Amino acid sequence: MEDHVKTCSDLMIFGALGDLARRKLFPALYQLERSGLLSRDSRILALARRQTTTAEVRNQVSQHLRESIPERELEAATLKQFLSRLEYCRLDFSDADDFEALRQWRQDSGNVLIVYLATPPDMYGLIARNLRTADCCTAQTRVVVEKPIGHDLKSSRNINDQLAEVFNEDQLFRIDHYLGKETVQNLIALRFANNLFSSQWDQNHISHVEITVAESVGIEGRWGYFDQAGQVRDMIQNHLLQLLCLIAMDPPADLSADSIRDEKVKVLKALRPITPDIMETHLVRGQYSAGASSGRAVPAYLEEEGANRSSSTETFVALKVEIENWRWVGVPFYIRTGKRLPEKLSQIVIHFKPAPHYIFDLDQKHLAHNRLIIRLQPDEGMTLQILNKDQGLDKGMRLRQGPLELTFSEAFETERIPDAYERLLWEVMKGNQYLFVRRDEVEYAWRWVDGIIANWNGRGAPLKRYAAGTWGPVASIALITRDGRSWYEDAGY
Ligand code: BG6
Repeated sequence: MEDHVKTCSDLMIFGALGDLARRKLFPALYQLERSGLLSRDSRILALARRQTTTAEVRNQVSQHLRESIPERELEAATLKQFLSRLEYCRLDFSDADDFEALRQWRQDSGNVLIVYLATPPDMYGLIARNLRTADCCTAQTRVVVEKPIGHDLKSSRNINDQLAEVFNEDQLFRIDHYLGKETVQNLIALRFANNLFSSQWDQNHISHVEITVAESVGIEGRWGYFDQAGQVRDMIQNHLLQLLCLIAMDPPADLSADSIRDEKVKVLKALRPITPDIMETHLVRGQYSAGASSGRAVPAYLEEEGANRSSSTETFVALKVEIENWRWVGVPFYIRTGKRLPEKLSQIVIHFKPAPHYIFDLDQKHLAHNRLIIRLQPDEGMTLQILNKDQGLDKGMRLRQGPLELTFSEAFETERIPDAYERLLWEVMKGNQYLFVRRDEVEYAWRWVDGIIANWNGRGAPLKRYAAGTWGPVASIALITRDGRSWYEDAGY
């Protein structure tokens, strides 16, 4: 099996003492170690500005892993082995001379170099140039960068240009961690391995699609970053558009990175711009006010720690997205995402059109739609709602909706679903780009998003409040009911 080919790599993590490395990268690397996927000679070099030592960093990482990894997955020998790979080097990212230490670390190493930039994106170009000056890179070097790539098309081009001065596109691994989720990858299998669905996947058979990515958390101490970004840049430009692309794209010729990414780009190019004349019916922006989450009172966005009390940054967005191509004409994609919603839930609902001619009791006609509910997280799985005859002599030909249920944890008896970062780091080690975002994808996504942001301060998209712990502003319900439909949760199916 391809996944058991071990790849020897030297991993440099810039920003290794930061939040991302602590919460995501080290736990994911530990799990790769546990699965036996790190080859014997792979090494990890943690880089940051802080004056500290390898021993101290190993201690911190160990401490955090002990706190964050479930006890049954913590193995003393694995942890020891993992920590032994880890070294720390203090580095001023802007000082080219400091990079000499990296060249020395690499000297005589035959391992492929992977550079993980867990830093603010405005440092990417600088670090890339310093790596080149210090002669650390070869054509085999791989560079992993995090979203957001810029805050609009212009700034993302600028960052991409700076990276392209040093690296070729096939060396760049732009992370959208949603693509690393097992259930998101399963969308490709579901659509293209099952003719049952692929033959029905268009405007002849589907009436509309819902995509919801809800979070119950608020800003979690990230006010400084989030307030500059807002929910459209933080979630729509990347995660939600990626999900939409995977649902809407045409079948790729094969599973290669470029075949998949070519098809995603075609969807992005076909998105109908949200121009001022349709903004009122196609976009709702919200910001949470005080409310309750998991049974406790929580403050308003404007009262979060470090908040600027007059911010008009959105923490919720709902959009009616139209894709102007043959497959999807007339099929709206209603998408919504927000902070401080009632629960954490990422879910896609495909609503199929009713049968062409209806022969059952008219009072049941509203039932006559099939729906496919794809639960990305939590409780990963899917439900296909179909109609059956109700059982019993007295029931005549009464219809009853029944679910065909597939819960992944039960069906596959998986001990654990790997975190997205485990999959993504593993793919980087194998040099496989299909789960990473190509430059043109990022830029087409920004082009569409820029069009929204540029216009929303005009008319049509005033910021609406919603109480923390609710499903967003009332206007987001109107966005869909205006078309005679309702969000899946509200419909009580
Ligand atoms: C990140 C966003 O990309 O995704 C965060 O910056 C958000 O604001 C997070 O909370 C959600 O990811 P997940 O995997 O928890 O759904």
